[in-house]
Amino acid sequence: MKIAFIGGGNMASAIIDGMLEQGSCSTDDLLISVSSEASVQRWRAKGVANTQIGASAAFAEADIWVLAVKPQIMEEVLLSYQGYFSSDKLVISVAAGLTVSSLAYFLTDSDDDTELKIIRTMPNTPSLIGEGVIGAYCSTAVTEHERELFNTLFKACGRIDLFEQESMLDAVTGLSGSGIAYVYLFAEALVEGAMALGYDQATAREHAVQTLKGATLMMEQSTDELATLRQSVTSKKGTTEQALRVFQANGLKEIVAAAMLAAHDRAQELATELAPKK
Ligand SMILES: NC(=O)c1ccc[n+]([C@@H]2O[C@H](COP(=O)([O-])OP(=O)(O)OC[C@H]3O[C@@H](n4cnc5c(N)ncnc54)[C@H](OP(=O)(O)O)[C@@H]3O)[C@@H](O)[C@H]2O)c1
Repeated sequence: MKIAFIGGGNMASAIIDGMLEQGSCSTDDLLISVSSEASVQRWRAKGVANTQIGASAAFAEADIWVLAVKPQIMEEVLLSYQGYFSSDKLVISVAAGLTVSSLAYFLTDSDDDTELKIIRTMPNTPSLIGEGVIGAYCSTAVTEHERELFNTLFKACGRIDLFEQESMLDAVTGLSGSGIAYVYLFAEALVEGAMALGYDQATAREHAVQTLKGATLMMEQSTDELATLRQSVTSKKGTTEQALRVFQANGLKEIVAAAMLAAHDRAQELATELAPKK
């Protein structure tokens, strides 16, 4: 099985490193195209001899195409690959905001995507360390075997969930896609709050990160409801109760819901902005 990557940057590296580590493919199975000589040399040094700049006939031989260039240049890039595309290939896109129908148009110049096997994914950045969340949607032509193949190839990036509705990927954007930044913002707020209480910055950062990590591991290891976990560390008239009251009085849950909706709505807008201009 030959797997071609169009784009060999951060996201492609995460996927390829994971696949090689878990032995789901070898460097000989890979074909990678990039845009610079520096990247060609970097991939060759990692053992992927079939690395090149731009498109070539070798892409026609690949069974799987992984689309891993920036969304804004996908249309222009795929134009030069169209001649090597055929509908028997499985296409996996990691590009944010590009719908299955936009990708189908960029690949074939046609609106008819019924025959095309496209898996559109929405990964988040912890995929780079194997701790990502990957939401995915498969076009109807993708077979059960190809879904399993996708799972096998991408599982080293993190948790994978397939959705029946493509629109759910906008919701995935609102939670896991953008959510990493929400957590960073909360961590920043913890650090700033700790410094106001007398902490030095370095210790505040370490304590904030360890607190988030500890809470995350507790949530992961427990089968209790999240509210039960919260209640279990909130004694009547205690310190935590006072702090949580402040969050509640200032509408923390409403703020989070509004922020997620804003990310969701922007994802929908982006899909329109990135759609082919026919
Ligand atoms: N990074 C993440 O955590 C993350 C998370 C979610 C989704 N994504 C999605 O992943 C995709 C890639 O993002 P990234 O972070 O990996 O970007 P990146 O590190 O900038 O990589 C982009 C790659 O595209 C290559 N490229 C540019 N023009 C090309 C062309 N004409 N033909 C072939 N390759 C070309 C670049 O080549 P050079 O190496 O020579 O510059 C580079 O290898 C994006 O669509 C993004 O939405 C990324």
